[in-house]
Amino acid sequence: MDSRLSARALVDLLGLWRTTEPAYDALADAIRLLCLDNRIAPETALPAERELATALAVSRTTVAAAYRSLRATGHIASRQGSGSVTRPLGRTAAARWFDREGIDLQQASPPAWPGLPGVIAEVAGSATALVSRSGYDILGHLELRTAIAERYTRRGLPTSPAQIMVSNGAQHALNLIAGTLLRRGDRVLIETPTYPHAAETFRRADARLVGVPVTVEDGWDLDRATQAFARTRPVLAYLMPEFQNPTGRTMTAAERAVFARAAHDAGSALIVDDTTAELAIDDPLPPIPAGLDTAALRVGSLGKSVWGGLRIGWIRASEETIRRLRAARASFDLGTPDLDQAVATRVVTRLDEILPQRAALLGAGRDALGDALAARLPSWSVPTVRGGVALWVGLGAPLSSALVIDAAQHGLHLSPGPRFAVEGGQERHLRIPFTAEPRELVRAVDVLAGSWERVTAGDRVTTAAEERDGAGHALAEALV
Ligand SMILES: Cc1ncc(COP(=O)(O)O)c(C=O)c1O
Repeated sequence: MDSRLSARALVDLLGLWRTTEPAYDALADAIRLLCLDNRIAPETALPAERELATALAVSRTTVAAAYRSLRATGHIASRQGSGSVTRPLGRTAAARWFDREGIDLQQASPPAWPGLPGVIAEVAGSATALVSRSGYDILGHLELRTAIAERYTRRGLPTSPAQIMVSNGAQHALNLIAGTLLRRGDRVLIETPTYPHAAETFRRADARLVGVPVTVEDGWDLDRATQAFARTRPVLAYLMPEFQNPTGRTMTAAERAVFARAAHDAGSALIVDDTTAELAIDDPLPPIPAGLDTAALRVGSLGKSVWGGLRIGWIRASEETIRRLRAARASFDLGTPDLDQAVATRVVTRLDEILPQRAALLGAGRDALGDALAARLPSWSVPTVRGGVALWVGLGAPLSSALVIDAAQHGLHLSPGPRFAVEGGQERHLRIPFTAEPRELVRAVDVLAGSWERVTAGDRVTTAAEERDGAGHALAEALV
């Protein structure tokens, strides 16, 4: 049976969709992007025209015209009994060309640390000792938890191994936290723009999200944050205080103090996501700044600092919270693979040696991307960032979705600004990761310059076949 998307769910996904005229074109494009990002899965029945028209407060003619346009480009088909159903997007000759030549900047995933294969080989050599363990260990290896705790302690946040649970990456950690600590209807305060899969995790736990804006220019909106804490009393507040993904901003001491106080007064627990926190490019890694650790849960990962494929993350929390998470975890999964934990134990103790190499790699990408953007797209606002994985570029016009659709047709795959928004908006921004090789980033900017010329000239209508091929390739499974 097809899955069905309610009008309300589609309205939530669409956010601020009406960025161009005519409205039916804007609506069709917004739905195409949702298909492109795989946020609407193939074989999903869209809401009936009348229902969607009411939910969007537009005329039924507008929705009918948008659906007609989507049918013409092969994104949806009419199916008896189900109405308009999204189609699986085919892999054609052009899509295969993209496979060879295309550039995928939807994920901000740096390549593996070059020393990793050596560590894996070493661990494989001691496999006999490893397989003598029981294999079911919900908290994680004591050696690994000790290594993680010692690293926190050395960085200025005293931590015991009993305060650590090892997870299968930070995303899994967020799921465990949301699934254990949230109840339906709880409020979760979250930055906007934010890391999209975190927002999805909290939504899936039926939480209600309260967005607090953060901008490249001004950082966190402290008035909004203070009001949001006081007014909505969120159970959790999810923050990335260092090298926030996607803006790259780092909280000042004053910003930290405001969040700590407001969270304390509202009785909210903070979740600090450290996934990108150690990716400083220009400065030595400072001690963990004080201020946000009261009642904080921290989530960490080796995904960016070592390799995403290792799937090792962790939660740092009070011993009591770890006990709660441990009790709840078995229904999610029965622990983290032993082999990966053994690799991670060796790697965590070597992070001081690994991180400067990452800084050099990320710095080269950032500088190449920044230089290419300054040369080819001088009207864009390109932030100065001192770490992290991406540039949150200001376009100066609400054309992010149109730009991403055009670029996908020319072999460059990015995620549009609204993908990072919590309550709509962000059409004026584009996240460009600098985790790829400098040469590839320069090629990406070439494509973007061409796309920008076309979308600003209003020439963004494409043939049905072209669009289908681009979308077929760009079915994004994950965005990191
Ligand atoms: C802020 C943030 N948190 C969590 C994750 C997920 O990390 P992991 O690969 O460890 O699941 C990412 C990945 O991009 C991220 O950027």
